[in-house]
Amino acid sequence: MKTRIHAIAGGIGFVMILLFWASTAISELFANHETVAAVKAMILRGMFILIPAMAIAGGTGMALGQKRKDALTRAKKTRMPVIALNGLVILLPAAWFLAGKAAAGEFDSTLYAVQVVELIAGAANLTMMGLNIRDGLRMTGRIRRPR
Ligand code: HEM
Repeated sequence: MKTRIHAIAGGIGFVMILLFWASTAISELFANHETVAAVKAMILRGMFILIPAMAIAGGTGMALGQKRKDALTRAKKTRMPVIALNGLVILLPAAWFLAGKAAAGEFDSTLYAVQVVELIAGAANLTMMGLNIRDGLRMTGRIRRPR
């Protein structure tokens, strides 16, 4: 049961960040400022789903992995604080800042600089979360481990 809750929360977290990343990239590339601002406001509201999902994934993951010392568990345990720190120190403040700037119509070089940082940090978290999903599925035998 705990594994299921863990996997669902982790999956929700991954999909949310993927949605945030893709909607940001697509709106910045192809949409007008009004749409970009609407996307950024939506992302900020989406944090009310993302943050609890990540807290549940991290908390249940640490509980599941408490007594395990194998390489996959160690790798997941090492990635998790980096994912959390990246989210709380870069992604969350960036989303809040960008939503404010876009709502005020300030599409200046500061906005785009922070935007680039946010997209890079988002891609880094997607990669680390993807690796956690892969390693989790290897642990439960749903996908094969490499020899
Ligand atoms: C973003 C964070 C994480 C994601 C997306 C994630 C995802 C997953 C997934 C998809 C599974 C497979 C579940 C299944 O096949 O039913 C899994 C299993 C597992 N995860 Fe994570 N995980 C994350 C963080 C962690 C952390 C920090 C730990 C701590 C070590 C951890 C420990 C485990 C363990 C021990 C299992 C196997 C449980 C079992 O054998 O029943 N996970 N995880």
